[in-house]
Amino acid sequence: MQIIRSTDLRGFNTFGINAHADGMIILEENTDYQELFRRHLLGQEPHFVLGQGSNVLFIDDYPGTIIHPTNHSIQLVEDRGDSVVVAVGAGHSMNDFVWYCIEQGWHGLENLVAIPGTVGASAVQNVGAYGTEAKDCILRVSAYDLTTGQERLFESAECAFGYRQSVFKQQLQGRYLISHVYYLLQRHYTPVLEYKALAQALAAESLTHPTAHQVATVVADMRRAKLPDPAEIGSAGSFFKNPVVTASQYYDLLDRFPNLVAFPLDDGRFKLAAGWLIEHVGWKGRSIGRVAVYPKQALVLVNQGGCTGREVVTLANAIIADVEDKYGVTLEPEVIYVQ
Ligand code: EPU
Repeated sequence: MQIIRSTDLRGFNTFGINAHADGMIILEENTDYQELFRRHLLGQEPHFVLGQGSNVLFIDDYPGTIIHPTNHSIQLVEDRGDSVVVAVGAGHSMNDFVWYCIEQGWHGLENLVAIPGTVGASAVQNVGAYGTEAKDCILRVSAYDLTTGQERLFESAECAFGYRQSVFKQQLQGRYLISHVYYLLQRHYTPVLEYKALAQALAAESLTHPTAHQVATVVADMRRAKLPDPAEIGSAGSFFKNPVVTASQYYDLLDRFPNLVAFPLDDGRFKLAAGWLIEHVGWKGRSIGRVAVYPKQALVLVNQGGCTGREVVTLANAIIADVEDKYGVTLEPEVIYVQ
């Protein structure tokens, strides 16, 4: 465990926002979680759990302690023959874990390759891409109650997973510190190819029966083509969620905007492509001050160098207002504002 006073957060958020926190506690080992509570290290001041900082926006300096898990053990806890249960430390890089699973022949997470962030965040956020969501493979989550220090196991059904959503982001927001995520992975590989763009990319390479490695490689290439590399350009991936509207709202919009891009959901509603809405109100590639809408993917806001969290919010609010004016749909940030 490391306990640090007054921390510069610039290296701890992929947006590259220059902010400070009063302190940071880095949980390096699985045993650090118990120690955190045994020694009452959190005190009364505010605290915030931060993974790789790939989905947060620091609006101001943070007046409290950042808890930063980096524990990254991977333990095969159960072999069920045709599947395995693996407990992964919350601080493990999700991308590294996905590749590790592919090497081991444990399947289910291939389409989530190259998503920035930690394994702990994968459960909070129910990360998703190219037709797969983390919840498809999460069996249970182990977490500590930040107020009592009690450990609790959440079975998948108790996590209330939804689109970029979980109990840890809603009813229990800020209450639990995830230590491990238990993934249930299959020994037999069944490619998930429902996402049209992925199926097309594989077909273009004549991969009719792709291996897990081939699918992951194609997904990683597609992400690289559309999304900025956080090592080069500061961003937090998709800044907004794709808004969900009722069928009647969708058909009204489709009447007025026949090229609208949307995906039907199982419950009869429709998910609109926020990137399309933003592009068609004219924001793609435009900027305000030091923040821009990424020219290759309008859902992503980028730091053009030295921007503040407040500048990002100004641009985000301008986009939200314009989309609302034209389409009557309110975009919600996927990124978590921290202040
Ligand atoms: N589109 C545009 N203009 C744009 C961007 C998108 O018209 O500037 C339209 C395109 O027609 C495209 C459709 O929107 O067909 C959907 O675009 P894309 O396939 O890129 O997916 P997305 O809805 O923009 C979501 C996730 C991404 C994930 C991709 C692939 C959210 C908020 N974002 O983006 O997740 O990688 O699907 O599955 O759901 C992230 O969360 O950080 C992230 C990158």
